[in-house]
Amino acid sequence: MRVLVTGGAGFIGTNLIKRLLSDGHEVVSIDNYSTGKKENEQDGCTYLEHSLESLNHPSKFDKELFGVMSDPDVIFHLAAVARIQPSFEHPTYTFHSNVTATLNVLEWARGKECPIIYAGSSSSNGDKFANPYTLSKSQGEQLVELYNKVYNLPTVVCRFYNVYGSHQLTEGDYCTLIGIFETLYKEGRPLTITGDGEQRRDFTHVDDIVDGLALAAKFRVYDISGETLELGRGKNYSVNEIANAFGENYPTKYIDERSGEMRETFCEDTKARDMLGWNPKRDVIDFIKENYILDR
Ligand SMILES: NC(=O)c1ccc[n+]([C@@H]2O[C@H](COP(=O)([O-])OP(=O)(O)OC[C@H]3O[C@@H](n4cnc5c(N)ncnc54)[C@H](O)[C@@H]3O)[C@@H](O)[C@H]2O)c1
Repeated sequence: MRVLVTGGAGFIGTNLIKRLLSDGHEVVSIDNYSTGKKENEQDGCTYLEHSLESLNHPSKFDKELFGVMSDPDVIFHLAAVARIQPSFEHPTYTFHSNVTATLNVLEWARGKECPIIYAGSSSSNGDKFANPYTLSKSQGEQLVELYNKVYNLPTVVCRFYNVYGSHQLTEGDYCTLIGIFETLYKEGRPLTITGDGEQRRDFTHVDDIVDGLALAAKFRVYDISGETLELGRGKNYSVNEIANAFGENYPTKYIDERSGEMRETFCEDTKARDMLGWNPKRDVIDFIKENYILDR
């Protein structure tokens, strides 16, 4: 298949591209490298550097992709300002990247009749107005639904739950919890826990997420078009339990609760398992023990 991945230099995009290449697909990435990294680039994939919000007419997409890939068989739309906390500081940028850019991708796909798999967020199951990120991702989903219903574009929304694994960011504002703990632990510093640490997250390994995305594409989107699939491990842990996995006596430090965060994420929906045969199997506590603790 010819595959276009937006946000291909980011955390999940990099893992997805590795899989697509090893499965023999032709892959092109469009990324503006706002959080994506050049060092994530994989041999065999073509990387274009562009901000999707400025590709506001299908002809601009065509021009950008001319000679590289004109008609993909499927688009994975992963590019986004992908974290809650920075979105408070940069709402305009967040909406441009997550909503306007999504509209541009959909509009180009409409002309090509190209199926789209959209990276949704589990946060859309909670209060959509909790922060700019959640509202923008949820509006992205609504646009996807609109193009599916009005224009018959084959689309699937895959909502990810707290993803961790290789190529995750380990420093900066866009870092996830496991990435922050990785850095603090490797530097021998206390693990910082926000609030009381009893907030629970359904941590899902990036390889399981990639399995789900690959299955969605394998079903060629058409058979599952219009669906929203929840890609979560189906098991959750409190932040205190995660910190404990680094060693019961490893030091922790409690800091202020962060606004806009959900108290719990937990994937109980089995549609992805039933429809795709998806079977997430990696466990975050095992991951911590195997990847960090044995390193010492
Ligand atoms: N990581 C998670 O736990 C998680 C959970 C739920 C949903 N998601 C969704 O998965 C997707 C990928 O997330 P990630 O964790 O890999 O984040 P990431 O920040 O590592 O990747 C996002 C990529 O998109 C690029 N990008 C951002 N805005 C762009 C724009 N306007 N034009 C072109 N490129 C742009 C960035 O440079 C980056 O490479 C996002 O849509 C995110 O909302 C992630």
